Order: sequence, then structure tokens, then C-alpha cells
Amino acid sequence: MRKTNIAVFASGTGSNFSAIVSAVKTGMIKANIPLLICDNPEAPVIKKAVRAKIRVVVIAAKDFSDRDQFEKAIIEVLRGCGIDLIVLAGFMRILSPAFVKRYPSRIINIHPALLPSFKGAHAIRDAFEYGVKVTGVTVHFVDEKTDHGPVIMQEPVRIENGQTLKRLGQIIHKVEHRVYPRAIALLLRGRLRVRGRKVVC
Ligand code: GRF
Repeated sequence: MRKTNIAVFASGTGSNFSAIVSAVKTGMIKANIPLLICDNPEAPVIKKAVRAKIRVVVIAAKDFSDRDQFEKAIIEVLRGCGIDLIVLAGFMRILSPAFVKRYPSRIINIHPALLPSFKGAHAIRDAFEYGVKVTGVTVHFVDEKTDHGPVIMQEPVRIENGQTLKRLGQIIHKVEHRVYPRAIALLLRGRLRVRGRKVVC
């Protein structure tokens, strides 16, 4: 049986991308990563992919007349690479409902908070400023709503007294790098089923 082909979508640093690539190398994730889709030509993740000899396709939304055209260009590349699973790792674009419907239960995302709390692009800061004592990391299937799909895995992170936002960010990222590969490996075992909002094993 051929291995699952994963496309990672990222816009920024790419620390999660690197963690996933390492997990593929060690055999923890039994899949290929033939493709990185990046919407930002300046993103540091691009160099990381080049170093890992992974094909990078930069598709910037500003080069297209609308989101539909932008996503059509992405879909064409995905088809060309025979992609089975899309892994969002800091991809700063919201995918349209039409795009998400094309890949049912085949797009996953990592969010740096315990969903449904602190959705959005500043989740670590929002949780810190709110003053919660526990935040964390969520890996979830992507559905038509932002930061909303069925939860695959979560891990809590305590916010200790006197902890700085910077330190919290470092801890969250460290947890992400452990949790995301584990969630992908679990998904690839093929035993996860989505029942309504719930993911069951
Ligand atoms: C991570 O915190 C992830 O949870 C969020 O975007 C960030 C990406 O970081 N979706 P990196 O580019 O993987 O370092």
C-alpha cells in the first residue's frame, strides 16, 4: 500500500513543520511530505523545506483576483502531487467552505489554546491576558468554521504565577512540537472516526 502524501501549509517560522518532518524521518509518522504550500515568499519555513529537500510552492493571495482563484491554484498543485492529507501549521489564511468540503476529514490544524476557548490568531496572548490558569494546545479537523472542527487531541499547559507571555509562548510551542506529530501518527493509523462533533477511536 502506498504511503499517505502530506502537504503542509505554513506561512511563518515553520517550527511545527520541522517537528513533523523530523517525525517522518524517524518513522514515527509513516507518510511522505512531498509538498509545502506557503502563501508568504518571505517566510522562514521556506528555507527549512529547501533544506529538507521538500518541494515548496509559494502561492500568494495577492497574486490572484479573489480567494476562489487563489484556492484553485492550490488545488491544482495538490492534485499534481497526489496529496491525501493537508496539515495546516501556522497557515495564516482561512480556507473557504468550498475548499474544506473538497477534503472531508483530510485537513487538520493545530491551535495554540484549548479550543473552543481563545480562537483566532492571537490565542496565546489572549489566554495570557485573560488570566486563565490553564491553556494548552489543540489539534483538530478543519471544518467550514474557523478553529471549530472536531478535536483530535488536546494537551493542557498551566500558566504559573509570574510567568511571562514570552515564556508561555515557548512552552506552548514545545508542547505543539510533541503533540502535532503524535496526532498525525494517530490519524494515519486509520482508526479515527468523526461522529458529529466527536472524534472516536
Ligand atoms: C503555532 O503556534 C500554531 O499553533 C499556530 O501557528 C503557529 C505556527 O508556528 N497555528 P510555527 O510557524 O510552526 O513555528
